[in-house]
Amino acid sequence: MKIKVLGSAAGGGFPQWNCNCPMCSGVRNGTINAKARTQSSIAVSSDGVDWVLFNASPDILTQIQQCGVLQPARTLRDTGIKSIVLLDAQIDHTTGILMLREHKSPLSIWCTSAVKEDLSEGNPLFKVLGHYCSVDWNELDVKGKEHRIPGADSITFNPLALTSNAPPYSPHRDQPVEGDTVGMMMSDQQSEKKLFYAPGLGEMEPHVWQAMQSADVVLVDGTMWSDNEMIERGASSKTARSMGHLPQSGSGGMLEWLDKLPDQTRKILIHINNTNPILDEDSSERALLEKHGIEVSHDGMEIEL
Ligand code: MLT
Ligand code: MN
Ligand code: ZN
Repeated sequence: MKIKVLGSAAGGGFPQWNCNCPMCSGVRNGTINAKARTQSSIAVSSDGVDWVLFNASPDILTQIQQCGVLQPARTLRDTGIKSIVLLDAQIDHTTGILMLREHKSPLSIWCTSAVKEDLSEGNPLFKVLGHYCSVDWNELDVKGKEHRIPGADSITFNPLALTSNAPPYSPHRDQPVEGDTVGMMMSDQQSEKKLFYAPGLGEMEPHVWQAMQSADVVLVDGTMWSDNEMIERGASSKTARSMGHLPQSGSGGMLEWLDKLPDQTRKILIHINNTNPILDEDSSERALLEKHGIEVSHDGMEIEL
């Protein structure tokens, strides 16, 4: 299994266009040791030719330009992206599908019926695309069904319902329904290796913890260091947990959970918010992650399993 991190930041990217917090201005001015990042998305493949895209970020065109294998140029109009999986209906994970409207046939999109509903009603991107290439919707079933998704033939996909939060425009905002947000277990039938991917993870439920313990690599929610980080910075009135993101620090935080995984499990954070101090490679928070054997993903990162 080949995994490419196309984007590693949370919504807004890093730096965020209108933000002058110490992190965003620091990376913009080159005064902190940090890498700019686009909004979170990964691509997964068995053969390195055909790819499954996980989430379509508003930065997708830049991400495709920076990842040559996604543009194989075999015919006049061509793409290496065979299927698109949408793990939630948030703006930073879905609006990129509009940028793919020139696709020659209906876009093969895999998501739960809850996400499909949000993208047909609250933010009707699927209806808009109906006027262009259209959407070929394939249901992601969170009831334990194993999926085969075109673009990654040796991999089986098991979606897991996660407790997080639906987008502000969803009829289910603050009233979670099953399938609002999913994580994905990906098992390579050839290498027998497993990746667990969850860029939005609000609570460590037993079925999620079980999946994480059986994975070789966990690529999980790294949105915020502390629950009230955005409030402290004056950036927003929202806590990490209210947005459906488990903070890294504190009691019951992501760090405590990752510490309990087997030593050989590779632990990587993704979907990192621009207020998160771990983006500064010289920060004490980043040093603490390193001490715990936890990596911070960056755009262009490649993982082979
Ligand atoms: C989230 O992950 O909670 C959302 O993407 C936030 C946003 O984009 O506004
Ligand atoms: Mn997000
Ligand atoms: Zn900022």
